[in-house]
Amino acid sequence: DAGKGGYDHYMLKEIYEQPTALRQTIRGRSNQLDNRAELEALPRGVFSDVESVHLVAMGTSYHAAMYARTLLADRGIPAQAFLSGEYGSNPPPTGDRTLVIAVSQSGETADTLSAIRSVQGTGAQTLAVTNVVGSTLTRECEDTVYIRAGPEIGVAATKSFSAQVATLVLLSERMSQDIQGGTPRATSDLLDSIAVLPDDVQRILDESTAESVAKAYHDSDSYFFIGRGIGHPVALEGALKFKEITYDHAEGFSAAELKHGPLALVTERTPVFAIFTGRNDTKTLHNVKEVRARDAPVVAVAADGFGEIDEYADHVLRIPDTHNDVAGVLANVQLQLVSYLAADELSRPIDKPRNLAKSVTVE
Ligand code: G6P
Repeated sequence: DAGKGGYDHYMLKEIYEQPTALRQTIRGRSNQLDNRAELEALPRGVFSDVESVHLVAMGTSYHAAMYARTLLADRGIPAQAFLSGEYGSNPPPTGDRTLVIAVSQSGETADTLSAIRSVQGTGAQTLAVTNVVGSTLTRECEDTVYIRAGPEIGVAATKSFSAQVATLVLLSERMSQDIQGGTPRATSDLLDSIAVLPDDVQRILDESTAESVAKAYHDSDSYFFIGRGIGHPVALEGALKFKEITYDHAEGFSAAELKHGPLALVTERTPVFAIFTGRNDTKTLHNVKEVRARDAPVVAVAADGFGEIDEYADHVLRIPDTHNDVAGVLANVQLQLVSYLAADELSRPIDKPRNLAKSVTVE
């Protein structure tokens, strides 16, 4: 218990450690003056020959990888995210202009190690993005970037996701500088948003109304999470966290998929969490109207500036206005709080959910 520092669970402690973790992640890596993303260990030009990027990961790290795929695509860099457990057994073609980025908190996930091993000898360049110094992944990849989140004990990953995404935003900027044809987005706008990200997370932790949401809906049939763009992996992550620690059925999908199946399940007993990150919000708002027409309760996670949502949502969990690239980190913090508080309401063993392990070291 001493390690929990006064919190009831490691998960809650780690949720509250996010401002500190993010300060560590970005320290010295984002220079406001010369607009460059500095990832100290990587020599300049290390990505010059990269033509396509494969991101491989599992679980929460896979959601960070999906998020990064969108960040890279926005910068003109062809990128795909793969579940490493699939990639290792059915590897797609790679060559010496492919960069394979393995994203793993522990650096020990067997599927992710196996994905990296599957490209050894093909000429592909390999990069580990991990939290654990000296982990197996760092020894198997040519280069490593650390996310610097500090130790994460709770089985449900929290601060590692925020630190992974912040690292991947900076890495995307760095890659777009190295790769010919890449278009950096390092506007002062983005750099300002990264600089205040720890304070924005702190504001959410101080002001969140997630408790009223957790109390209102803890006996529903199912919980759905929808979002677009970077809001899509955040929806998947919101649902993963919710099912892992509450044991209730939760499903995340792209808001674009709603009409292609999931809408058949939407009733007044299926709360829908809708994630708005500042891009394509009008389309997601349209989806919200569709689920409301089926009497589903709507919990929106939306920026302070998105006032229009108030009319259509039963609850709005607010996030500070910020750059779209980092808005997903803030939205995810609100969803972490909802999952934690809902699981606590149900007295679940939050730090050690049944059948799950912090690190899955067998395939
Ligand atoms: C397990 C954990 C998850 C984690 C996933 C990937 O499933 O329970 O929290 O996201 O493994 O782990 P990694 O260490 O590779 O990020």
